[in-house]
Amino acid sequence: MKHLLKLADLSAEEIISILNLADQLKFELKNNIEHKRLKGKTLAMIFSKSSTRTRVSFEVGMYQLGGNALFLSTNDIQLGRGEPIADTARVLSRYVDGIMIRTFKQSDVEDLAKYGTIPVVNGLTDYCHPCQVLADLMTIREYKGSFKGLKLCFIGDGNNMANSLIAGCVKLGINITICCPKGYLPDENLVAWGKKEGLLKLTENVLEGARNSDIIYTDVWASMGQEGEAEKRKKDFNGFQVNDEVMSVAKKDCMVLHCLPAHRGEEITHDVLEAHAKEIFDEAENRLHAQKAVLVKVMQK
Ligand code: CP
Ligand code: NVA
Repeated sequence: MKHLLKLADLSAEEIISILNLADQLKFELKNNIEHKRLKGKTLAMIFSKSSTRTRVSFEVGMYQLGGNALFLSTNDIQLGRGEPIADTARVLSRYVDGIMIRTFKQSDVEDLAKYGTIPVVNGLTDYCHPCQVLADLMTIREYKGSFKGLKLCFIGDGNNMANSLIAGCVKLGINITICCPKGYLPDENLVAWGKKEGLLKLTENVLEGARNSDIIYTDVWASMGQEGEAEKRKKDFNGFQVNDEVMSVAKKDCMVLHCLPAHRGEEITHDVLEAHAKEIFDEAENRLHAQKAVLVKVMQK
């Protein structure tokens, strides 16, 4: 595996291999077993959007692996003043061993990989969030033991999270239902592929979608960059909330996952979030372990 640009690029075997390494790295960390697999390596982290989890988990992850991470906000580097992605890729390739990037356009991530000579990891674009879904899959396996026969229901915007969840679930054979309002559907190519594989359903009926779910997943109604649409979206997403009524039709042992940050009272109620805080914060923790596994896979020679 050379890069992590989107989950759809990986085979099921590659995803499982990342998850297995993530479990191993988590075990080693919890048992104080040294694991400096990236000693002396440097990761450049380009951020055009805010972040708590992604920034801290990549930076701490590199440190734990014996390497170093550079936080590069596009407000501070020349990329933000218009220096081309192709030039940024070629310059960074001379200094560092890998690049993590969080930005708007998926094509910018793909171009970094195309013009640079070092591994590129996608830390979120408007199109997808592969690192988050690797952590989600790791958490699901920790709680449920395997992926076989599971049903995941995503309620909310057909955004970057929905797209990566479709990719990850369909690759691993998890049944996925996406409940979103008209006009907010996930990527049409992913939808066509998921349906063809017989594992994806779309519905506007939240209770029908949530029925008998093993995992309910949600995300904010207005993503980063969509702040100006927040009021319109509050109206459009009315009824697409994870609340007690939705949980009452899911399986008794249904997990709730949220990539965070959460807007209590919008996509999820305070009570449901707090009732499922254990798995939601395990999920946040697993960003660290899953991303360390990705970094080792792409950066260790
Ligand atoms: N879930 C996630 O990516 O969080 P941050 O925006 O804080 O990085
Ligand atoms: N859909 C959200 C995910 C945040 C982790 C966003 O893009 O802002």
